[in-house]
Amino acid sequence: MSKDFLSVADWSADDLWSMADRAASLRRAHREGKRPRTLEGRTLAMYFEKPSLRTHVTFEAGIAHLGGHGILLKPEQIGIGTRETPADVARALSRWVDCLVARTFSHELVEQLARDASIPVINGLTDLLHPCQAMADLVTIAEVMKPTDATIAYVGDGNNVVNSLILLTAVLGLRLNVATPETHRPSIRVLERARSLAEASGAEIDLGADPIDAVKGVDFVYTDTWTSMGQEDETVIRREIFRAYQVNEDLLAHTANARVMHCLPAHRGEEVTAAVLDGPRSIVFDQAENRLHAQNAILERLLMR
Ligand code: CP
Ligand code: NVA
Repeated sequence: MSKDFLSVADWSADDLWSMADRAASLRRAHREGKRPRTLEGRTLAMYFEKPSLRTHVTFEAGIAHLGGHGILLKPEQIGIGTRETPADVARALSRWVDCLVARTFSHELVEQLARDASIPVINGLTDLLHPCQAMADLVTIAEVMKPTDATIAYVGDGNNVVNSLILLTAVLGLRLNVATPETHRPSIRVLERARSLAEASGAEIDLGADPIDAVKGVDFVYTDTWTSMGQEDETVIRREIFRAYQVNEDLLAHTANARVMHCLPAHRGEEVTAAVLDGPRSIVFDQAENRLHAQNAILERLLMR
């Protein structure tokens, strides 16, 4: 078991299932107005190099619900790598707070912070991975059906969100079809790690380029933005590259009654149509809701030991 939550691949299947179960019971309690103060008096520093609605609010509200307190840190205030080294920031924070969540461009920076901090570090999204999203997705799928009975299709860009979904699938032995353009496949490093994990778990991960092949007969169709944070200069060219990968009614016609997933923020008319995103098959706000509970389960797991 890792000190940190940088990647779902650092955790065992048993650990991930038990965090997902805990998230579901925290959700039940939350809906009944109960706030179990399991992290009374604990503090969480939250460092964001990129914009965020969901990750910021769910961590700050989440730690407050558990009896603790969140402190937002912005790059211009603390200057990691300019005002002082990442190692000094990590060591200083470790003397004051109980945990750090970091959203950075570079995945290596989060790994470095985790190495130098004595406190747990949580990956709040990097260019490579988005493990908190993957945990919320697991909790959301489990609300609909047994995840081990489900087939999931991801259609679009081979980005951080699908990288973490692939690793989740590989650890837990799930079934995932991925359709991306050949030029925008998921990370090779992630695929290699997933291949070895899948040998042990029995996961089935199918990579291709045809969205119709990917979605046939699946239970969930997942997509994400074509232009991730930091890629804004490529927005126009990406609209061309991914045009055939839009999740719309025509694509969904190749499934029986698949639910539609999206980590948000969404771009209606690009990766998904408004009719689909706002339609009856969409479970995107359940995913957003589950960020809160999945992360509270992660916080408890890292801090209550
Ligand atoms: N899905 C997600 O991480 O949203 P934010 O970028 O708003 O945090
Ligand atoms: N792939 C997106 C996810 C946003 C939550 C990005 O990195 O911008």
